Amino acid sequence: MRAVHSTNYDGPTGVKVLEIDAPERAADEVVVEVRAVAPAFPDLLMSRGEYQVKPVPPFTPGSDFTGVVVDGPPGSEFMPGARVAGCLSFGAAAERVAVTEDRLYPLPEDLDFVQGAAIPMNYLTAHFALVTRGHLAEGDWVMVLGASGGVGLAAIQVAAGLGAQVVAVVSSPQRATVALASGAHYAVLRDDVPLKVRDLTGGRGVNLVVDVVGGDIRNALRSLAPLGRLLAVGFASGEIPTVKVNRLLLTNTDVRGVESDYLWTAGISRIAWDELMSLYRKGFIKPVVQETGSFDDYGRALTKLDERQVVGRIVLTP
Ligand SMILES: NC(=O)c1ccc[n+]([C@@H]2O[C@H](COP(=O)([O-])OP(=O)(O)OC[C@H]3O[C@@H](n4cnc5c(N)ncnc54)[C@H](OP(=O)(O)O)[C@@H]3O)[C@@H](O)[C@H]2O)c1
Repeated sequence: MRAVHSTNYDGPTGVKVLEIDAPERAADEVVVEVRAVAPAFPDLLMSRGEYQVKPVPPFTPGSDFTGVVVDGPPGSEFMPGARVAGCLSFGAAAERVAVTEDRLYPLPEDLDFVQGAAIPMNYLTAHFALVTRGHLAEGDWVMVLGASGGVGLAAIQVAAGLGAQVVAVVSSPQRATVALASGAHYAVLRDDVPLKVRDLTGGRGVNLVVDVVGGDIRNALRSLAPLGRLLAVGFASGEIPTVKVNRLLLTNTDVRGVESDYLWTAGISRIAWDELMSLYRKGFIKPVVQETGSFDDYGRALTKLDERQVVGRIVLTP
């Protein structure tokens, strides 16, 4: 079968499609014929050996996939022919994958494979950040930094679906349009934080900040209302922020880490998925797919992510 490989730690230029043996199913695994995969920022970091998960090359990248079950253990929820979405730390960008059931989710009939592949990691992370770590309540104000990226757009849609007022922070007016179309109630340019955000909230500030960018977060902290929480989800700028905790003490605010692997170690990812699909049925979950291509485009897709040319997701088919 064909599978994408990161052949070294040189980044996207080392990403190639190779012919390898199809996976053999372990007793507790389900084999899925992959129909679509969505390359993501962690794939880019892994291709350079810069992610917290460091597979040794050559390895197959890919977290988010959709497909059709071809084989599984007796009694499995996922019988041959079932349409599924899945989420791995890496290894999804192959014609077939063998995965344990806790990594699979039922894919609604009316969600096509390309759209479905754009959902798992980003939306599960957004849900975990907002609900499990952020304790989002209906009517809360949520500010999303890096709002036009994969996790950012997901955070807008999940927060809006759960009844929040959402402020998207973006780097250009074009990206503001995408954020507003995704359900953000307001869009603000990064340089206008915190002043515009304070104006929008009647001077009070937001209850939650979802931050996938990192770097200098002082203006984001200045946007928090008392008892507000900044959720540290990622560092797309390449810079890990530092925080003087006296600021947190003086303002009664928190900075909270968000590591979505907990969804699987704690066995709660399916609860989050089912809640996401309920928001999908209500029309809040609308994955933004910027473009499609084939596995051969995997390296190019990672380069586009690196160069900030992606709004939403690129989705590739075998
Ligand atoms: N903690 C977890 O469990 C978890 C899970 C998934 C992903 N992540 C992390 O989350 C981060 C974002 O992932 P993603 O898939 O959303 O990436 P993405 O699609 O590339 O989006 C990142 C966004 O950040 C903004 N950005 C990038 N560089 C910036 C800079 N130098 N200054 C200001 N803004 C910048 C851009 O938004 P604008 O141009 O609109 O400002 C971009 O759209 C990554 O670091 C990823 O590793 C963490």
